[in-house]
Amino acid sequence: MDKTGPQALAQQVMTNPKYKTIVNSLVVRLSHEAISIGLTGKAAVKYVRNKLHQVGGAYFKQTIDYAAEQSQLAQLPTDLHSDQVAAFCQKTMRSHASTAERLPILAEFFQTCLAPIAPVTSVLDLACGLNPLAIPWMPLSGSAQYFACDIYLDMLGLIESFFIHVNLDGKTSACDLVSAIPIQEVQVAFLLKSIPCLEQMDKRIGLRLLEGIQAQHILVSFPVHSLGGKNKGMQEFYGEHFTEMIKDKSWRVREFHFKTELAFLVSK
Ligand SMILES: C[S@@+](CC[C@H](N)C(=O)[O-])C[C@H]1O[C@@H](n2cnc3c(N)ncnc32)[C@H](O)[C@@H]1O
Repeated sequence: MDKTGPQALAQQVMTNPKYKTIVNSLVVRLSHEAISIGLTGKAAVKYVRNKLHQVGGAYFKQTIDYAAEQSQLAQLPTDLHSDQVAAFCQKTMRSHASTAERLPILAEFFQTCLAPIAPVTSVLDLACGLNPLAIPWMPLSGSAQYFACDIYLDMLGLIESFFIHVNLDGKTSACDLVSAIPIQEVQVAFLLKSIPCLEQMDKRIGLRLLEGIQAQHILVSFPVHSLGGKNKGMQEFYGEHFTEMIKDKSWRVREFHFKTELAFLVSK
């Protein structure tokens, strides 16, 4: 292997435990980028790790002990709607900033946004984070299929175990949405609070995803506060950004405002 190439740089980046469970193709792509802008050695490692932190690591409010989570999950009843399963899901979703701030509006969010298309028969949850643990609050049909993807292999492992435990027809896969768009055909795709994050790697990814996803409906959302908790006119900013992004499309768009999130249900 070329010791100065993207593969070798990616390996170096992944020696830090914080980055070793991230899908390799993303780390290699960012390593390639670092090298192509002329970075070498420690500066290149730092560039890739900073990017990975920005798009992934920064959302973790605490380190998740996946082995402990898996053993807690194994002790739970298998009924998706039991109180114990709900408590486990809420506790775990609190570890990721994105799902943590959805907790106060959880039932209202999914019931309201998905009402026009409920009961939902299939979901593709893109850049899912821990959001599949919100399934107990979603208006899904009894036989619904759920596909979820993100960059963290350990997080996807927990979600996959959750699907199996509650006997849900679900599958997870590791993805880098900037380099490939999943091809599953579904009733609805979720692109929840991820466009701003993905735009840090590719300014045009938002529309590319909206156009490329094979879904009849796409539930898109944006944060209304920054990770630091500040509200710097974000709701207006993202509302305008989204409107501008889809201005040439004849899609039907329904808009929903919540205390912690701005959402759009796009119907193609
Ligand atoms: C703001 S969080 C949103 C998480 C989830 N959708 C939610 O609403 O709770 C952004 C998510 O994008 C994921 N992510 C970052 N870069 C990605 C990429 N290139 N491909 C797929 N997912 C990515 C992160 O790991 C993180 O889970």
